[in-house]
Amino acid sequence: MNTRNPALVGLIRDEIRVRGPVSFAWFMQQALYHPEHGYYSSDRATIGRRGDYFTNVSVGPLFGQLLAIQFAEIWDRMGKPENFSIVEQGAHHGDFARDVLGFLRDHRPDFFSSVSYRIVEPFPKLQDRQRETVNEFGDRVQWRNSLPELGSFVGIHFSNELLDAMPVNLRNKRVGLNGDELIFVDWAKDEKPNQSQVDWVDSVATKLERGLVLAIDYGFAGAEFRETIHVRARHRLLDSPFQEIGNADITAHINWSDIGKAAENNDLRIAGFTDQHHFLTGIISMFPDTVTQEKSKRGLQTLLHPEMLGRSFQVLALSKDADFAGCLSGFKFARDPRKELGF
Ligand SMILES: C[S@@+](CC[C@H](N)C(=O)[O-])C[C@H]1O[C@@H](n2cnc3c(N)ncnc32)[C@H](O)[C@@H]1O
Repeated sequence: MNTRNPALVGLIRDEIRVRGPVSFAWFMQQALYHPEHGYYSSDRATIGRRGDYFTNVSVGPLFGQLLAIQFAEIWDRMGKPENFSIVEQGAHHGDFARDVLGFLRDHRPDFFSSVSYRIVEPFPKLQDRQRETVNEFGDRVQWRNSLPELGSFVGIHFSNELLDAMPVNLRNKRVGLNGDELIFVDWAKDEKPNQSQVDWVDSVATKLERGLVLAIDYGFAGAEFRETIHVRARHRLLDSPFQEIGNADITAHINWSDIGKAAENNDLRIAGFTDQHHFLTGIISMFPDTVTQEKSKRGLQTLLHPEMLGRSFQVLALSKDADFAGCLSGFKFARDPRKELGF
């Protein structure tokens, strides 16, 4: 089945005919984020059982609840600052924000009253969806179109599967044409592989005054890194990013060591790095009452199982002007993060 978006394919072809082969990052930017036709920007992305793929968030509210516990612990350790922001980037339809705020309102009203939740979202259609989802929390939630528009903040920057959705270049490859068909062409000149992720670290580091950056994503550390592109639609992995352009998700595995290096160059400290299995197990071991209902137990199985989301996802924590070393529940079972990153 070919369900490509013809208008999008047409404009990519036109660009290649005029400019010659284009970088994979440019292609990925159009496929996912073209203002009118992109898979995410047009709100065609459907995440969950009936959609294209699962994320931690789509498994159910348990993920947000466990993270809310971790956020509250961070707030406690920082001495309970009064104006505390949780900044989320890549919030999709706002489910995670709703799950976190609902849990804090019901279980940690002291923290809830100090929190302002800020969603960084460039796409109007997604902002509208998010507004509907978190409607009950009123002006506790605010929006910014981009990180540069956010003022400096004390608190947490959180993302789940944000970095893997950022456009990347491929080694010695560009996107060209064979007749009308998009193809990979060899390209001798190497381009910077993950510039958008490194730029993201720079921007977050500039905006975070004090607190923690917590990024959950899938990738590799150190010598294990392999360039890996996944194209997903209707719970299938497609063979090529050119198959269902505009209607499929494209992700690239993260090079965690590059992110860590960029962080240290920007005065962030590596406060923790582990896989999701160990991260969530650490939180649950401190707060076992969270997972008592049957439904939560099933969700937990998906989040923790090594063949589901437990091992393929990793969690990186970067701190600024706050010392969390060895004391956050999520990293209770983690090894030395710098060693894990190959530093
Ligand atoms: C794979 S989805 C993950 C969505 C959600 N966090 C979840 O776990 O279900 C990636 C999301 O990141 C968003 N995104 C990509 N680049 C972004 C940026 N620079 N700022 C904000 N969101 C961005 C995309 O629009 C998309 O909604």
